Amino acid sequence: MTVLWLLIALSPHEQARQAADELLSALKATLKAEMAARGPAGAIAVCRDTAQILLQQISRQHGGIYIRRVSRKWRNPADIPTPDEDSLLVLLEARFREGALPREWVDTLVLNGKPFLRYARPLVVGGLCLACHGEKLAPEVDSVLRLRYPHDRARGYREGDFRGIVVVKLPLEGARTGGSP
Ligand code: HEC
Repeated sequence: MTVLWLLIALSPHEQARQAADELLSALKATLKAEMAARGPAGAIAVCRDTAQILLQQISRQHGGIYIRRVSRKWRNPADIPTPDEDSLLVLLEARFREGALPREWVDTLVLNGKPFLRYARPLVVGGLCLACHGEKLAPEVDSVLRLRYPHDRARGYREGDFRGIVVVKLPLEGARTGGSP
């Protein structure tokens, strides 16, 4: 029975993982294409619009699920973590310092009296990211960022640093999708 059910419907964990995978591969593809076509300073303009649009699209495709990219050192104020996400970021930051950052994190929590599955995918800074999040930015990148993100905190990273998470929250009772924790 269980096997049959799994074939018909994805578990909340699988559904959350799939949404995170879709978001990350779409972001990566866009970023690579834009960096190649316009260079980092030109790509910023696209990132600014596309990241938030992609988040909305993936949420819609999954029935309105809660999905975000959040960081304690955020660039876009839309990516400021909620209190429960902030605590998880602190915990994962500690794991990262111990050299034990997990590939994914799954737990459950109660928000506004309702149980949710919380799924997080840690994001690590790679070489490609440094042009816009690193310690030394090209002057044209720096000036576009200052103009568009006056409160930017997402700089000064080194390759391998823990950058933030993609977080998905799914209601565990009643409707399988459409929660807004
Ligand atoms: C072309 C410049 C550019 C590159 C390269 C780049 N980013 Fe960003 N990043 C941005 C911009 C611009 C934003 C703000 C997006 C928005 O407004 O939604 C951002 C936002 C983010 C966020 C959301 C949290 C926040 O700070 O607002 C994460 C996480 C992130 N980037 C991770 C990465 C990682 C990991 C890489 C490398 C794989 C990377 N970025 C490469 C420009 C870049």
